[in-house]
Amino acid sequence: MGYVIAMAGKGGTGKTTIAALIVRIIREKKLGSILTVDADPNSNFSDLLGLELKETVGQIIDDIAAHPEKVPSGMSKDRFIEYEIQTAIQEAEGFDLLVMGRPEGPGCYCYANNVLRNIMSKLIEDYDYVIIDNEAGLEHLSRRTTRSANALVVVSDATPVGLKAAFRISDLAKELKIDIKGEFLIVNRYDKNIDIEKLGKLKSNYLGNIPFDRQVEIKSLDGSSLMELDDNSISLRTLRKLGGKIWGCN
Ligand SMILES: Nc1ncnc2c1ncn2[C@@H]1O[C@H](COP(=O)(O)OP(=O)(O)OP(=O)(O)O)[C@@H](O)[C@H]1O
Ligand SMILES: [Mg+2]
Repeated sequence: MGYVIAMAGKGGTGKTTIAALIVRIIREKKLGSILTVDADPNSNFSDLLGLELKETVGQIIDDIAAHPEKVPSGMSKDRFIEYEIQTAIQEAEGFDLLVMGRPEGPGCYCYANNVLRNIMSKLIEDYDYVIIDNEAGLEHLSRRTTRSANALVVVSDATPVGLKAAFRISDLAKELKIDIKGEFLIVNRYDKNIDIEKLGKLKSNYLGNIPFDRQVEIKSLDGSSLMELDDNSISLRTLRKLGGKIWGCN
């Protein structure tokens, strides 16, 4: 059974960046097989992982809806979609990638979500770690595409507004009874001490801060992958120290 790490947080806080750094650290620690899942329809996880964007689950669902004749006789549509999704998983060095995208076809939203959920629960069985980069906000929680996670990593900036958004994510996950074993707050791009009172009910989830990392900024401006980020960059060094609870060991 795979250990699921899901990212959450307000827009632009650094979810995708931190997800890519987590992939690097789990890979360097050789903790097991890794499936990365880009669940943000405006996906850029693949860029940060150094992979080309290939076929998305959304495109597969749309294509089969538009061309039902492609489903081989003797195979159910769901089984065929599952097969196509398996073949859309890209293999990279030390991890695989699945990109969800978003189906554009009319009226197939619920259907697509159901397909995604079923596929995810099967894929989770096949890997040791599944790292899901989610879109900003709460949609993935309220649509319940994040149904359960061993670690929900909430990324925030240090502002009261940012932290309030982190509170809301935490509350919603509880309200929706999403099965989350551990919830962790990271304050990104900040290297001062946080007034612990400001963290309110998130105090116990707070892992620490990741400072602004000029090397991450350079990679981002170049549009290049974080798989090439210097091993000694401040963000990687800090996350290695902070993150043991996220990946379940030190
Ligand atoms: N610690 C850091 N130091 C410097 N730059 C950073 C750091 N973390 C993230 N960034 C930069 O901040 C920007 C936003 O980061 P990222 O795309 O990871 O955020 P996000 O939360 O995934 O955004 P979105 O909500 O749009 O998906 C990027 O340009 C990224 O390079
Ligand atoms: Mg992102």
